[in-house]
Amino acid sequence: MDHYAVIGHPIGHSKSPQIHTLFARQTGQDMVYEAVLAPEDDFSGTVRRLVDAGYRGFSVTVPFKHEAFELADTLTDRARRAGAVNTLTVTADGLNGDNTDGLGLVADLKRQPTPLAGSRILLLGAGGAVRGVLAPLLAEGPARLHIANRTAAKAQALARDFADLGPVSGGGLGALAVESYDLIINGTAAGLSDETPPLPAGLLAPGAGCYDMMYGDTPTAFVRWGNAQGAAWTRDGLGMLVEQAAEAFAIWRGQRPRTAPVMEALRPRS
Ligand code: ATR
Repeated sequence: MDHYAVIGHPIGHSKSPQIHTLFARQTGQDMVYEAVLAPEDDFSGTVRRLVDAGYRGFSVTVPFKHEAFELADTLTDRARRAGAVNTLTVTADGLNGDNTDGLGLVADLKRQPTPLAGSRILLLGAGGAVRGVLAPLLAEGPARLHIANRTAAKAQALARDFADLGPVSGGGLGALAVESYDLIINGTAAGLSDETPPLPAGLLAPGAGCYDMMYGDTPTAFVRWGNAQGAAWTRDGLGMLVEQAAEAFAIWRGQRPRTAPVMEALRPRS
């Protein structure tokens, strides 16, 4: 039986073991997937011990995605571009680092009513989570993608780094309001304290949607903001989580599980 794990700090609330266990059952794969708490100062030692014990792959979550990037012996192009790794695979050449977060986001966005091609997208935040999804979002061909961040300089720097991939710009939150958008995606960490970034009214074009990369058992602060602003649709990031896990599962097991029944099983009943 093959062993896999998600590694993070904290890790107690991770839904990944449940997701991968449902994938394994659905596809008939003989594997075990568990949650491992790594000490904040010993991610690499934890990985090494698990590799020595025969583990075949790891999901990597907060706060270790950058360390996983540094630790990997080989990297996929998308992980290199993201500057972060969320999926490690034990291979004959050592640890391969990949990043499936952006694909996960795009796969879930494609289930929503707003088409990505030709749309005006506002992306909030300029940290690791946002860097990880920029390339796959730009690959969908939006009319424009504007990054707005509390610290304007970080958004501007990100926009410069990705300018070769599409029409991307960056600026501060305070400079918003001149324009409206078809889709607003929250990639800030403000939701961790149940807050939204300070946003002006009038950002949503008719029919626009709001997507929060965070998820919760109750509506997140950004989902509540979108509803209050009259968004045509709002969605939290549970679907992104399940889709990025499905990509990792496919890398490890060569079989892509169906995600809809797993999302249905995880969605809290209201
Ligand atoms: P992650 O890996 O989750 O992206 P990060 O790299 O620390 O974490 O980035 C956190 C992001 O959330 C940043 O864009 C941060 O803004 P700054 O760059 O100005 O620090 C943003 N953020 C965190 N708390 C916020 C808040 N209360 N309001 C607005 N933005 C916030």
